[in-house]
Amino acid sequence: MQDLINDIADTMANAERRGKVADYIPELSYVDPKQFGISLATVDGKVYSAGCATTPFSIQSISKVFTLTIALGQMGDSLWSKVGREPSGDPFNSIVQLEHESGKPRNPFINAGAIAVVDAIMMGHEPKETLGEILNFVRYVADDDRICFDHAVAASEMAHRDRNASLAHFMKAFGRLDHDVDKVLGTYFHQCAIAMSCEQLAHAGLFLASDGINKPSGIRVVAPQRARRINSLMMMCGHYDASGEFAFRVGLPGKSGVGGGILAISPSHGSIAVWSPGLDSYGNSLLGTQALEMFVQRTGWSVFGHY
Ligand code: DON
Repeated sequence: MQDLINDIADTMANAERRGKVADYIPELSYVDPKQFGISLATVDGKVYSAGCATTPFSIQSISKVFTLTIALGQMGDSLWSKVGREPSGDPFNSIVQLEHESGKPRNPFINAGAIAVVDAIMMGHEPKETLGEILNFVRYVADDDRICFDHAVAASEMAHRDRNASLAHFMKAFGRLDHDVDKVLGTYFHQCAIAMSCEQLAHAGLFLASDGINKPSGIRVVAPQRARRINSLMMMCGHYDASGEFAFRVGLPGKSGVGGGILAISPSHGSIAVWSPGLDSYGNSLLGTQALEMFVQRTGWSVFGHY
């Protein structure tokens, strides 16, 4: 397995087309596009890494998997009155469906959906407490207290928040948000600005590969049914309007972020984190997707067949 992981890292290191680093959040545009990292954490406790696997990067929308897990833990199925669970087929920051669907976001992974989820988590807490809860959860599942917010990225998102502010105000106008828009956005931008390495991220995702149990510690994070449902949402919605393409090419539940990371889950096998900052036109890591495609072709670990 280590040979395969090395092979993938070598292939990606030499790739010519590397995509375009996100620049709508200026702080992300400073990241060197030549980097590539990969880490696989298996359900039997092994870790295989190559490339820049210990370099922290902005996890961005991958954080939405963790906030969804927290919200389901707090509210259970009543969360689904606030956010749907259908693919949107639209870009991650699109507003169009909100008007037709009375301000209820299609799913927890588009920006509007994640904003609704964080608004739900904030219930009964000060924003600072909510942030602490999100960070503690991520540190807990990754078993690593060094994980932090990148405050420069959060500030950059806040300074360029017009698009997300539009989504939030629009939802608020439909009575869909309970808290002050800027407080909700401040919390949302911080969750997106969590910095993690591929190794930390692969470890953090492992509970989704092992029926809800965080394998290294043996502690149950969620019930098996909840892990299965989160995986199915990742499969259907984790890559926005390219979710079908990702399922076609990779065939694993996956969640991307505009920082260039992707977390992919191979149930009963392991959790794979890849990172390369250059994005395709949908905002998903170009080389990260190629790396995962190569990984499933060589391991047969796609959920759709062993070839
Ligand atoms: O709100 C935003 O636009 C970013 N903080 C997150 C977007 C993102 O990661 C989309 N992913 N591919």
